[in-house]
Amino acid sequence: MLSSLRIASRRAVTARSFGAVRAASTWANVPQGPPAILGITEAFNADSFNQKINLGVGAYRDDKGKPHLLPSVQKAEKLIFDSRLFKEYAGITGIPAFTKAAAVLAYGKDSSALDRLAITQSISGTGALRIGGAFLERHYPGAKKIYIPNPSWANHAAVFKDSGLEVAKYSYYNKDTIGLDFEGLVADIKAAPQGSIFMFHACAHNPTGVDPTPEQWKEIEAAVKAQGHYAFFDMAYQGFASGDIHKDAFAVRYFVEQGHNIALAQSFAKNMGLYGERIGAFSIVCADAAEAKRVDSQIKILVRPLYSNPPIHGARIAEKVLNTPELYDAWLLEVKEMADRIITMRALLKDNLEKLGSKHDWSHITSQIGMFAYTGLTPAEMDQLAEEHSVYATKDGRISVAGITTANVGRLAEAIFKVKG
Ligand SMILES: Cc1ncc(COP(=O)(O)O)c(C=O)c1O
Repeated sequence: MLSSLRIASRRAVTARSFGAVRAASTWANVPQGPPAILGITEAFNADSFNQKINLGVGAYRDDKGKPHLLPSVQKAEKLIFDSRLFKEYAGITGIPAFTKAAAVLAYGKDSSALDRLAITQSISGTGALRIGGAFLERHYPGAKKIYIPNPSWANHAAVFKDSGLEVAKYSYYNKDTIGLDFEGLVADIKAAPQGSIFMFHACAHNPTGVDPTPEQWKEIEAAVKAQGHYAFFDMAYQGFASGDIHKDAFAVRYFVEQGHNIALAQSFAKNMGLYGERIGAFSIVCADAAEAKRVDSQIKILVRPLYSNPPIHGARIAEKVLNTPELYDAWLLEVKEMADRIITMRALLKDNLEKLGSKHDWSHITSQIGMFAYTGLTPAEMDQLAEEHSVYATKDGRISVAGITTANVGRLAEAIFKVKG
């Protein structure tokens, strides 16, 4: 038996050695990452003013400023719950009834792409982009470099860099016109080496809200084709932009019609309000069914060591909505209602600014599309909006139109007018 003295000295040694372990922690040299965008939420939460406005949110809000559960989604969930399905694993590329329906939604029911498509369910749009990046890094025969618009969704560069691709930017936004830098865009497509990979936002460009017109898409397609580039579309907002799923898929479908075997990332976060369910799809249009089979086998080889197989609940919901005629029809109307609310808020904001006597041209507010609007306000003006008017959004002047309601649009316009004139 150990004497109490020896026990005490052992404890002291143990304490010292733990102390030593702590001092030389394995992670002692892990640097602190930069402060996250959380800044907006934190500043918003810390503000006690009862009429504060949060225009930093990246999710749809209803006219009461609340998150929105789509009735079609609720009904689909009830049907799923009532059928007491097992929770077995899906296959590596997900639930086939979902991926088939997602493909029809994106490419159109009569698309030639459907019979020569390799498609996998993904962890929402981000996961689709990440699988796409990894596939290009492993199999693209040309340079492993992807061109993304300047600016682009904040995560694009990180997703593609982490996939092992080099990231370059092409001109997109003209800050003087607060619109599309179409000449710059086409010039950059033409200047890139033959066979480069170009990523395009299919609709509702995030963060600018600036989209090419159908005529401009046609010219973009011609430039892409002339250079033999490869097009990768990110369609995170189908239906959510214009309210019409076909109109929003114009660029994707046009490129396929013109013979481009594109890659496509889809998300059901916004158009079905399934943000946290993480449901999306990644697809590659192939030359023929035999090529699609080979590509599919390589997608499986990529996905299997990443996460084995995707989660099932979101896929079941989206599948049920897309494949049940009554739910599908109801969903089309619900997507349109969300898009229309955003479009109405844009018009109201512009009207209010004009009624206040603003001499600025605010036409970009209504010509831009989707959840986000680029106001053209400078970082200093955005700071002033937050500090003096309790209106919170990102410093680049981007506002989430989803955060505007009939109740706060008047005060918002006044705040912008006081800052910008
Ligand atoms: C342009 C764009 N792509 C992709 C995504 C990915 O979204 P999620 O992973 O939630 O589907 C977003 C989300 O905001 C986006 O704006």
